[in-house]
Amino acid sequence: MKRDAMAQKAPPGWPEPPPPEICRRCHKPVWPVPIKGLQQIKKWLPQGIHPECSEAEQREKQAQVRHAEAMAATMEANLPAGLGQWSFERAYREARAIKQGEDFALWERPWQECRDWLGLKQGLFLHGPTGVGKTVLLCCTLAENMRAEEESGVYVHVPTLARESAKSMAKGSRARNMMEAVERRHLVVLDDLGVGKVGLRVARFITEVVDERMRRGLPLLVGTNAGEKEMSASLHDKKHHRVWDRLQRICKAVRVEGLAFSALMAEGDWE
Ligand SMILES: Nc1ncnc2c1ncn2[C@@H]1O[C@H](COP(=O)(O)OP(=O)(O)O)[C@@H](O)[C@H]1O
Ligand SMILES: [Mg+2]
Ligand SMILES: [Zn+2]
Repeated sequence: MKRDAMAQKAPPGWPEPPPPEICRRCHKPVWPVPIKGLQQIKKWLPQGIHPECSEAEQREKQAQVRHAEAMAATMEANLPAGLGQWSFERAYREARAIKQGEDFALWERPWQECRDWLGLKQGLFLHGPTGVGKTVLLCCTLAENMRAEEESGVYVHVPTLARESAKSMAKGSRARNMMEAVERRHLVVLDDLGVGKVGLRVARFITEVVDERMRRGLPLLVGTNAGEKEMSASLHDKKHHRVWDRLQRICKAVRVEGLAFSALMAEGDWE
């Protein structure tokens, strides 16, 4: 290879450097570096990669690991596609870009509550209208607690469980798998609880899950737009409001409100 302007100049008293290697990342020449060996012997050390290419390689590796971890968490927690990619950091950044003023403040408060949740109370009860970001906050909370605590977790969309259980409750069915996962995992998310009527079997299951969580001090995250009456009706418990009462006892109620993200994004404020 021809020596060019990038060539290493030999300092006075040094032998001529050998020709460059080819960087394994950018495939451009990478020149040897001068080092002093034993007894001050001056020599050139061939380099397989540029220092900046090596740093970039490290960053790429770390990003790959993070991505793989997020994917694994998504699979394990049964999160719907796309929802495993959320983090508190990303949710904040995107909300900041979409929402303004008081509307942003209305979102930021529950965001903070979720981020600071662990250890403060056994569970969180996120309530508020549709489209304000409850599910995304639940996913951030689930994913980040699984990562930080190395505890298992599972996401259950209750209306989906209700629909699946009507199809089949046989061993290996989706409904059965979801229910079994809930029994084994440390952190459980019940999303859209009390929204629409669920069958008796699922209602009984939910009631037992909430009782069990309360009894054993296990964490529970709930998302809903239902009030007390609707939730009790959905769970076939119009008289006693048992699930509702227990949820209020073990969970910190957090109101999520403000403008729906979809409406804001349709306005074209976004991008
Ligand atoms: N912090 C956020 N930044 C950007 N988009 C968001 C954010 N939170 C939610 N969204 C988007 O808004 C929509 C509604 O959010 P979702 O969490 O499903 O609301 P909810 O559960 O309250 O009905 C989804 O398309 C979601 O991707
Ligand atoms: Mg939701
Ligand atoms: Zn390079």
